[in-house]
Amino acid sequence: MTSLRALFTFFLMSLKGKSLLNIHDMTDEEIQSCFQRAFAFKKEFEAKGEYSHLVETPGLSSKVLAVLFFEPSTRSRLSFQIAAFRMGVRTLVMDSIMTSSISKGESHVETLANVAAMKPDMIVVRYGDVTGMDTFISEIGIPVINAGSGTMEHPTQALLDAMTIIEARGKIKGEKVLIVGDVLHSRVANSNLKLLKRLGAEIAICAPQAVRPNQGEWESIHNFAELDEAMEWCSVCMGLRIQTERHKGQGLGLTLADYRHSYRLDAARLTKLVDDGVVMHPGPFVEGVDLSTEVLKDPRCKIRDQVTNGVFIRAAIMSLIFGVEVSQG
Ligand code: CP
Repeated sequence: MTSLRALFTFFLMSLKGKSLLNIHDMTDEEIQSCFQRAFAFKKEFEAKGEYSHLVETPGLSSKVLAVLFFEPSTRSRLSFQIAAFRMGVRTLVMDSIMTSSISKGESHVETLANVAAMKPDMIVVRYGDVTGMDTFISEIGIPVINAGSGTMEHPTQALLDAMTIIEARGKIKGEKVLIVGDVLHSRVANSNLKLLKRLGAEIAICAPQAVRPNQGEWESIHNFAELDEAMEWCSVCMGLRIQTERHKGQGLGLTLADYRHSYRLDAARLTKLVDDGVVMHPGPFVEGVDLSTEVLKDPRCKIRDQVTNGVFIRAAIMSLIFGVEVSQG
């Protein structure tokens, strides 16, 4: 018990009080510590229906978490709230720009500055590709967790995706991960490339020419021209929604019918995937376009597990940033 406590305390020291905006903000030890906590929380929740007793909480119930979503969300917003609730952290939510002073012309940066001035203990924020936001956040003096930033990053989604792959496949090192669809506009794809590559996975994509990234870390990533061939190659297949709201009029360069024909994940495509393979999608999916609902019935489909794991990953990250210790139960 002493050595276990020492281990948790060591990992805890490094993330305490820090912000998580980008997967590169985390050290390898912090990533492993996050998985360790998330799996411990999940195991306890499945056995006892709660895990708050694992979190040693002097003062945690007096902490205040501000959750700000400048863009729509179901999974991320509610899973941060549920995770905070399960740990006894009090949460305030601003999830509609229409009921905030943004509707009167206030900028997103100025809104965040005003929330920070009220001195919550932590802020969770989802924002668009807003100039100056990352710089402002890095100087804010309060830990901030990025719950999805425009086309750039979604670090907690990548962590929950990695947890789901570990659960389903036993490891990440050596896994062949295929990302399908509108990769160029996907913050999920960006964070997953950084995290999964770092953990030893091989990444490839299958994307239409117009939404195929080729800058930075994407430059050396293989693109499959045919989805059937790509499905035979991979052990993990990750679908993506077409991010129409970020296309700025440029579009996909092909009709929706052609997109469905070439890039949709459906029962026929799944016949090409190995029997112990994994199908994932961060959600939301557009039924019949990026994914057919028949995929949800396939035992290899882990889409709902991703959502479940999101709560445990977010509890793990928040507990690490709050600096609380966790016991094994
Ligand atoms: N995966 C994801 O970020 O979903 P939401 O937009 O519903 O939060």
